[in-house]
Amino acid sequence: MEQDLAELHDEATALLTTITDAAELERFRIDFLGRNGRISAIMRRLPLVSKEDKPRLGKLANDTKRKVEQAYRSRQQELAAAAEVSSQPSPDLSLPGRQPVFGSLHPITRVMEEICTVFSSMGFSIAEGPDIEYDHYNFAALNIPEHHPARDMHDTFYINDSILLRTHTSPMQARIMEARQPPLRVIAPGKVYRCDSDITHTPMFHQVEGFLVDERVSFADLKGVLALFTRQVFKKDLPLRFRPSFFPFTEPSAEVDIACVICEGAGCRVCKRTGWLEILGSGMIDPEVFAMVGYDSERYSGFAFGLGVERIAMLKYGIDDIRLFYENDLRFLNQF
Ligand code: FA5
Repeated sequence: MEQDLAELHDEATALLTTITDAAELERFRIDFLGRNGRISAIMRRLPLVSKEDKPRLGKLANDTKRKVEQAYRSRQQELAAAAEVSSQPSPDLSLPGRQPVFGSLHPITRVMEEICTVFSSMGFSIAEGPDIEYDHYNFAALNIPEHHPARDMHDTFYINDSILLRTHTSPMQARIMEARQPPLRVIAPGKVYRCDSDITHTPMFHQVEGFLVDERVSFADLKGVLALFTRQVFKKDLPLRFRPSFFPFTEPSAEVDIACVICEGAGCRVCKRTGWLEILGSGMIDPEVFAMVGYDSERYSGFAFGLGVERIAMLKYGIDDIRLFYENDLRFLNQF
């Protein structure tokens, strides 16, 4: 009986591995585990064995039955899982794939890149300098000594007495002129910082400094370069207005306004009802600045300008609040 049980166990487990459908499995169950099945038939022989062997053989018969039942159930689960997989519809390979989500450049980065491309096409090289700047380059080297009233216009974030967050990109004029000799034709794009915030001002914004130094450079060259620049960036001839102004590092100085694209000159909250929006400060480089970097101002002259990139972007895209650029609202950013 012991041998019969062992053989039956081996036969049953081997047979189960070959079973591939539910009907075959049901036949297996009836044949081996059913009331009149082969295990029951062996068990029915128990009353005939000796009294001493009965407990051991009874336990062996029960164990064998339990093992065959377990093997049967696990095969049943395997077949059910396989049936579920094969009942899934096969993928439709002709369907279009899922579109990956691409990021895009921030509108200010795009405008910045466009501005750099326009000036590069006019022969300007690109230089970059530090956001954290010495007081010397931000002010003193630009003819703004300590206690000069012009410092008040800048709403500066100081780090300590001699180091600050640059308030404009003009320190690059001093840094580059100190290191190189004319002729120079350079732009310096970058971030600048001022304690200032309203619909046309943000505490961090971008400027592009530009300057050209050579023999016989005149204000007419400055006007020509800026007119060409606006035509290229806005793809049309927008009226430009040069307003006399004052910067300690240029003489004469002018602020340049562009006709407000948002209201087309009629007057709106962005242009403060004037029809014009200031986009840059500019002028002829002051001989005092040349003297500080050792240039001969009898021989060389030059112009410089510093334009506000966010202002250009507002006009280009018709945006009426500069702060929208920095709220990180994807509904706004996804439009670009
Ligand atoms: C300057 O910063 C001068 N360094 C420009 C300059 C360079 C003059 C070279 C002469 C020669 P101003 O403070 O006006 O100038 O700023 C220049 C431009 O930056 C402004 O015309 C405006 O377009 C932009 N701007 C100024 N403050 C802010 C601000 N808080 N937020 C956004 N844009 C600003």
